[in-house]
Parts: sequence; structure tokens; C-alpha cells
Amino acid sequence: MIANNFKMVFLSDMHLVHGKKFLGIDTFNSFKAVVDHILQFHSDLDCLLIGGDLIQDQKKESFDFFKSQIDRIVSPKLYARGNHDLSDSFFSNLDTNNGKFSYDNWEIIRVDTYSKGNIYGEVDIDNLNKIATVLNKIKDKHFILFMHHNLFLTSSPWLDVHITKNKDEVLRIISKIKNIKLVINGHIHQETKVEYKGITFVSSPSTSIQFTSNQENFKLDDIFPGYLIVSLDKKGNKKIHCQRVEGSFGVPEKNPETY
Ligand SMILES: [Fe+2]
Repeated sequence: MIANNFKMVFLSDMHLVHGKKFLGIDTFNSFKAVVDHILQFHSDLDCLLIGGDLIQDQKKESFDFFKSQIDRIVSPKLYARGNHDLSDSFFSNLDTNNGKFSYDNWEIIRVDTYSKGNIYGEVDIDNLNKIATVLNKIKDKHFILFMHHNLFLTSSPWLDVHITKNKDEVLRIISKIKNIKLVINGHIHQETKVEYKGITFVSSPSTSIQFTSNQENFKLDDIFPGYLIVSLDKKGNKKIHCQRVEGSFGVPEKNPETY
């Protein structure tokens, strides 16, 4: 039973494309529908986590649309940079909270997986060790980490080449930090959950195109876009709900080449 005294929303992978569909999906409409849904049902959120890959086409109209929609949600916002977030200035202007947030006895911390010029992710191990040293000195707090890239294989070989490259080292360090309850990522456009050494690792669907799980080659799923709602209480209990948002956003391409 969760007293629900702290509520976070995680949304990710908008891949906004202006003026046309992206692999069959109207990403502007699907993102707006997700924001509408959050405002209708979770406007009492305490913190919004944005998991990266915001703009696909790098057009001004898409950056402006992203800002106009995300600004509708009034909340502290934390950002993880994705492989498609190519604009240094756009990302740093958004990143006003430096990827950190505290609420009661919960601490939320970003782990940066962005690797310039690469689709895969990579974590700076020195930085992660510094985070681990700081967290291990804090008593009586619960920690949540969030990042763009995944740390666990997905059973889709085409997608697994784009994983966090040094995931084994990252998992070794993370799993030694006391009181980490949850690690959340985007990037893989599908809901997953792994329990590993007492820590729950989850990934979020995207607000745009969905990837079909367990595929040899890139394949789109026709399920609706979605986001995660994370409810937490002071005792360190957590509840994660994956919310799908229904609407008419288009038909995913049957034989997409790449994304
Ligand atoms: Fe990504």
C-alpha cells in the first residue's frame, strides 16, 4: 500500500517531426495527447522526468513546439540527454535543475549516457563513481536514478547494439549503492521491467513511435504512446504504472528502414 505522498511522471522519446508524419505517426499530436493526459489526471505531480530524444528533425518549429507543450506542465523538470538531442544550447537551456531533485527522503539523480556522435550510450565511470561516493554517505534517504539509454538487453538484436556500451561496469557500481530503489530509462520505446540485486529497472514507452519487443530487425508496434507514473512514500515503497494514451495518431509503417 502506497500512501502516495510523492508523485513523479516520466515521459520520453518525443522524436518530434514538423509538418509530416514520422514512420507513420504524427509525433506532434501524440506528444500533445500525452501532455493533455498528464494535465487531466496527474496535474498534482511533484516532479517531471524527461528521458531524452526530444527532436527528430532538428527544426525550429519542433523545438518551439516541444517548449510550448512541456511548459504547460508546471513542475520541477529534470532532463536526460538522448542520442538525438544534438543541440548543446537547447539541451543546456532546458537543463535548469542540473538533473537533480529532492523530495522528503527521496533523491532523484540523472546519470548521463549521452555519447557525442554515437547512437549507443556510454557513462563516464569517474563521474558515476563520484555520484556513488556521495550517495553512500547519505543515510536515511532513498534514491532513484534516471537516464536515456538502457542497461539491460532487450532481446531485440538490432536495438541491443545501441545499449549503454559500458553497462556491465555501470551496473556493478550502481548495484553497490545502498538504498537505490529504482532506475528508469527511455530510448527503447517499450515498457520493460527487470529486478536486479534488489533494484527495479524500468523503461518507458515513447510518446511517439513504439518498438515491437523481441525482434531480429527493427519493427514498429501499433500500441498507443504512453508514459510512466511513479508513486512513492516515505518508507521507500514505490509503485510504477505504465499509462497508454489512446488517439488517432496515424498507422506505424510496416517496413521501416531506420529511425
Ligand atoms: Fe534514443
